[in-house]
Amino acid sequence: MSATVMNALFILSSFTVLWAAALAHKHEHFLQCLSIHSRDISKLIYTPINSSYSSLLTSYALNPRVSIPATPNPHVIIKPSHLSHIQAAVVCSKSHGFQIRTRSGGHDAEGLSYISHHLPFIIVDLKNLNSITVNIENNTAWVQSGATIGEVYYEIAKKSRTLAFPAGVCPTVGFGGHLSGGGYGWLMRKYGLAADNVVDAYLVDAYGKVLDREAMGEDLFWAIRGGGGGSFGIVVGWKVKLVAVPAIVTTCQLEKNLDGYAKKLVYQWQYVANKMDENLLLGVNLTGGNPTQGAKPNHKATFFSLFLGNSHDLIATMNTTFPQLGLTNNDCQQTSWIQSTLLAAGFTSRDPLEFLLTKTSFNTVAYKIKSDYVNKPISKHAFKGIWDRLKSPKMESAQLLLFPYGGRMSKIPTWETPFSHRAEFMYKISYVVGWAEQSREASERNLNWVREFYEYMSPFVSNSPRAAYVNYRDLDIGMNNEYGSTSYEEARVWGEMYFGDNFKRLVRVKNKVDPLNFFRHEQSVPPLALS
Ligand SMILES: Cc1cc2nc3c(=O)[nH]c(=O)nc-3n(C[C@H](O)[C@H](O)[C@H](O)COP(=O)(O)OP(=O)(O)OC[C@H]3O[C@@H](n4cnc5c(N)ncnc54)[C@H](O)[C@@H]3O)c2cc1C
Ligand SMILES: *[C@@H]1O[C@H](CO)[C@@H](O)[C@H](O)[C@H]1NC(C)=O
Ligand SMILES: *[C@@H]1O[C@H](CO)[C@@H](O)[C@H](O)[C@H]1NC(C)=O
Ligand SMILES: *[C@@H]1O[C@H](CO)[C@@H](O)[C@H](O)[C@H]1NC(C)=O
Ligand SMILES: *[C@@H]1O[C@H](CO)[C@@H](O)[C@H](O)[C@H]1NC(C)=O
Repeated sequence: MSATVMNALFILSSFTVLWAAALAHKHEHFLQCLSIHSRDISKLIYTPINSSYSSLLTSYALNPRVSIPATPNPHVIIKPSHLSHIQAAVVCSKSHGFQIRTRSGGHDAEGLSYISHHLPFIIVDLKNLNSITVNIENNTAWVQSGATIGEVYYEIAKKSRTLAFPAGVCPTVGFGGHLSGGGYGWLMRKYGLAADNVVDAYLVDAYGKVLDREAMGEDLFWAIRGGGGGSFGIVVGWKVKLVAVPAIVTTCQLEKNLDGYAKKLVYQWQYVANKMDENLLLGVNLTGGNPTQGAKPNHKATFFSLFLGNSHDLIATMNTTFPQLGLTNNDCQQTSWIQSTLLAAGFTSRDPLEFLLTKTSFNTVAYKIKSDYVNKPISKHAFKGIWDRLKSPKMESAQLLLFPYGGRMSKIPTWETPFSHRAEFMYKISYVVGWAEQSREASERNLNWVREFYEYMSPFVSNSPRAAYVNYRDLDIGMNNEYGSTSYEEARVWGEMYFGDNFKRLVRVKNKVDPLNFFRHEQSVPPLALS
């Protein structure tokens, strides 16, 4: 080795040593700051020297596409059990130049609750803050962000079988992230989104202050109900309205091979699904893909529904609104609402309700999700391209979920919460592609498939802006400039896709409550001065 190279290496390694020493120093100061601000916090701090650090880090890291292999590790993970721990985390991160990623259930599709490429950062993990207090006298509940929606459904059912909460389908989803971005599910056509049913909340803001609805004011209270997680503060608890459901509901599932008749049914579904009785939600799930190892291709159209009433009334309704589907009692089950949530989660109605408390397990299937909103029926001709793509050998397994709007969703004004996708839309499409093989080739092939599909769909779905769902986070549609100099023109590209005209108000609120952009990530609302 030549002397110059040796010198260069020596200088380089001295820099590394100095840099590491500086970081170690900063680390010590940061930990001291935390213990000064919160005396009992040390047992809730995980650094890479703690043996449980990596299992905690990956326990809710749900998408191998983003979490394997080169994930930058957080400097520290804090698992607060009290508000004061969150306040200390905010105050000390701010004074020591750390960024915070807030994690409730860890389901963010791009991993933004536990990954940051701008070192150094810490994770505030809210799993210990998961209390649920159901008040059936006043039909309300206080729910902390670390609870899962399955736990919420379970706690409600323990007290009443005729009260419910309108949130998502998968029980492991975290309350904190879910409500921050809207939260839709089976009760949406009757009661709107989870975020539409929030009456109070408390959060820790960028200054470390605890604010409830009254203290935060109506602008910030508006912004946190659907304006996307990780922009405005750490929401710790939500007071929600519970909604009435009958003692008996009916759920149905009708699986069809994707033949000519099934394709016709899907086409016709578009004309009726958003106009049906709001007690009925009938969606369609199209599956495609070409599993390897000789398994049969899985090309199906599965119609699924929840009706708030008995099966006789459901069949009568279907007989008048969509007789072509030929739904019969054999496709349906009468259950309680809580059992219908078990069924929707893939369990049976005989399984114990405790299955709703299932903890998230590490997912080995990498996935990518994208979303679209449809405002006029897609033509038969356009559907042809959809059918062809679902048979493509370029991906292993894909799902298109067509979820109907209408009902209550059409009655809520677009500006009432940041979620602006309301009366204008007939249904939402989500495209999910998943692959188990962890190779660059598999990853690129599957990603290319879903991106090409999305491109193909552009003439048939909403445009200017092309609407998207923030809880199906998709960094393909745009990102903040990592150096913090994002302009309004840049940010609105993705901001208006998620929030329509509400994006402007979100930017104003952000500018007021966090002008220095402490809470930020690739798609956080930027604080910009607007004229
Ligand atoms: C298997 C699966 C099923 C799903 N099903 C549905 C469904 O039926 N309906 C639906 O609407 N969506 C569904 N989603 C999407 C889901 O609603 C979003 O991914 C949601 O953001 C997840 O919340 P979380 O707390 O689990 O995620 P996290 O990853 O913890 O958080 C998501 C985002 O919110 C931020 N955040 C988290 N907690 C807080 C907080 N307390 N305060 C402020 N910001 C916070 C995070 O930093 C991150 O940016 C599903 C997702 C998956 C993976
Ligand atoms: C992690 O290790 C430090 C130093 O030994 C200790 O003080 C702290 O309590 C540990 N954290 C947890 C969660 O056990
Ligand atoms: C329900 O609301 C009423 C009126 O606001 C109040 O007086 C009562 O204490 C509440 N009940 C419970 C259990 O919180
Ligand atoms: C869609 O259908 C497939 C195959 O029938 C099934 O595995 C999947 O769980 C369904 N998804 C939803 C959301 O209904
Ligand atoms: C629905 O239609 C079928 C076939 O026409 C009929 O046999 C059945 O009685 C009808 N059911 C109800 C509840 O109207």
